[in-house]
Amino acid sequence: MIKRYSFSPIYDTGAVVKELPISKGTPLPFALSERSFTLQMDENARIYGLGETVRGINKRGWVYESFCSDDPFHTEDKRSLYGAHNFILVDGKERFGAFFDTPSKITFDLGYTDSDMIKITPECFALELYIITADSLKAIVSEFRSLIGKSYIPPKWAFGYGQSRWGYVKEDDIRCCADKYQDAGIPIDMIYLDIDYMDSFKDFSISPERFPDLKKLCYDLKERGIRLIPIIDAAVKKEEGYAVYDEGHAKGYFCKDENGEDFVVGVWPGMSVLPDFLNPEAAKWFGQKYKALTDIGIEGFWNDMNEPALFYSEKGLNNAYEELKHIDDKQLDALSFFGARDTLVRLQNSDDDYKSFYHNTPQGRFRHYDVHNLYGYHMTKSAYDALCGLREEPPLLFSRASYIGAHRCGGIWTGDNHSWWSHILQSLQQMPGLNMCGFLYTGSDIGGFNSSCTRDLLIRWLSFALFTPLMRNHAAAGTRSQEAYAFGDTEVFRHIITLRYRLIPYLYDSFIKAAENDEMYFRPLCFDYEDDEVAKGIEDQLMVGDRLMIAPIYRQNAVSRNVYLPEDMTQVRMHEGEISTEELKKGWHDVSVPLGDVVFFTAKPLFLAKPAENTTALDWDDLESVG
Ligand code: GLC
Repeated sequence: MIKRYSFSPIYDTGAVVKELPISKGTPLPFALSERSFTLQMDENARIYGLGETVRGINKRGWVYESFCSDDPFHTEDKRSLYGAHNFILVDGKERFGAFFDTPSKITFDLGYTDSDMIKITPECFALELYIITADSLKAIVSEFRSLIGKSYIPPKWAFGYGQSRWGYVKEDDIRCCADKYQDAGIPIDMIYLDIDYMDSFKDFSISPERFPDLKKLCYDLKERGIRLIPIIDAAVKKEEGYAVYDEGHAKGYFCKDENGEDFVVGVWPGMSVLPDFLNPEAAKWFGQKYKALTDIGIEGFWNDMNEPALFYSEKGLNNAYEELKHIDDKQLDALSFFGARDTLVRLQNSDDDYKSFYHNTPQGRFRHYDVHNLYGYHMTKSAYDALCGLREEPPLLFSRASYIGAHRCGGIWTGDNHSWWSHILQSLQQMPGLNMCGFLYTGSDIGGFNSSCTRDLLIRWLSFALFTPLMRNHAAAGTRSQEAYAFGDTEVFRHIITLRYRLIPYLYDSFIKAAENDEMYFRPLCFDYEDDEVAKGIEDQLMVGDRLMIAPIYRQNAVSRNVYLPEDMTQVRMHEGEISTEELKKGWHDVSVPLGDVVFFTAKPLFLAKPAENTTALDWDDLESVG
């Protein structure tokens, strides 16, 4: 059952697809105090949800802020990441889901200030609140998902493996990557193009020097079963003579400052302007631009920098130069050195800037800061709506920033993580929360984006990520190469990635069931085994689809781990490419997982495909049963 409570919302976010009457007379589970929603928790209450956030599957014990943030340090002290996913599921004496539908900042203090208290504080007290109750945790999620509409389903080939790197700067780098994968017999379906394919980082342009014939490259790779997936950034370079800028400027499609002038910000292309995705005409116009790339055979995109990420604004930079004038010709002491440095650092993603530009929406003119969390969502929607019209097949599309609602138009990846062991676990722990909020096509940068990866880290990360719908290895410029061929030997990588392809029929089928029935593809164990007290405390294992459980290794040099089986299960082991099984009883087991082995567990028989070099070559019908 879903109850709607309305607190004078000022903006319809578009997250919800069902029209519900306002609930009358039914008391809220929360008390209202000083413009916060509060609830006393019992000792054992757990809280799930919040999508893309740091820390555990059970979110209790920390404070989270929904404010889409371009922050490349996903450490435990962070309150916001790239998404705003305002759904929590409280599992205590009272059990319910709550969705706080507001486009602006909202804080979820879940036992941080007072360990027994939930305190939820919207910065602007204008929102719709939905309270969802049902018989089970899974049923609450399904009710909520029916409220927000069906999840995006990507094309089948998007379940293949993809390689990306910010640093493939020319056509040869891409061809060389494809050759090395195929020479090593490692399956691959996608190679991603980062910003270097563009001409001076201008959206919908192609560098004539470095990618002289992208159409041919795209065609040649497709012949080999590999698709090219380019990036599109939110900001548009401010440059007269660049058609996208000229047109958007003439039509008034960019966000404006208080004087009605285009608001100018610094992002990858230098001085840039921000398409007003909350203006449907502007969104439609920007979406049509993808045609420049679909016309040459491109079938998928990743949308980036759409929190929106601002390195600085023209206005902020001018102020900073003024402030820095006083250090000119002076010998800096330590404090003034740090002060000067911080003057520049503070420019990035500043609230002052977010408060200085406006959107022209059908619901009126809105200051960006007040509707900040919707920007990435509307960029994804603009691309999705256009791409569905431009092509018959659904596109592959995923984004960095998001709000609930964007799950209907695309997937998300979890942004600029690090090559840290802790980030394998973090990625695992983010998956159920994301699924609750409708984001099913999701995954993290395998091997870690920032800092350098090692062979063992990549092996362990792949062994987990072979179960995530989006399986992409991606790394930042300047880091060590981390392709599956980059560490000398390729056999172990071939085995793991081949196993992904053998599992695709099961993974795809599970994904489609989850999308069609408003279910979760990844679930915490206690969602399936609600009466199992041990399962409630498990934070490093997940159920995948209806018959598989994973318990990956995420510690350096570990060769075994404790695994909890909530019922008798078959242990499936892949060792040097060979599959073997063993029956195990419900309870704890010390499971040996030498580097290169992949181990998972099934409660019911599972079907594997024959190895294939890509999804086109995969035989979806010739399946063999294990477990
Ligand atoms: C951002 C993206 C990252 C990309 C980089 C360069 O940091 O999150 O994935 O590689 O920009 O485009």
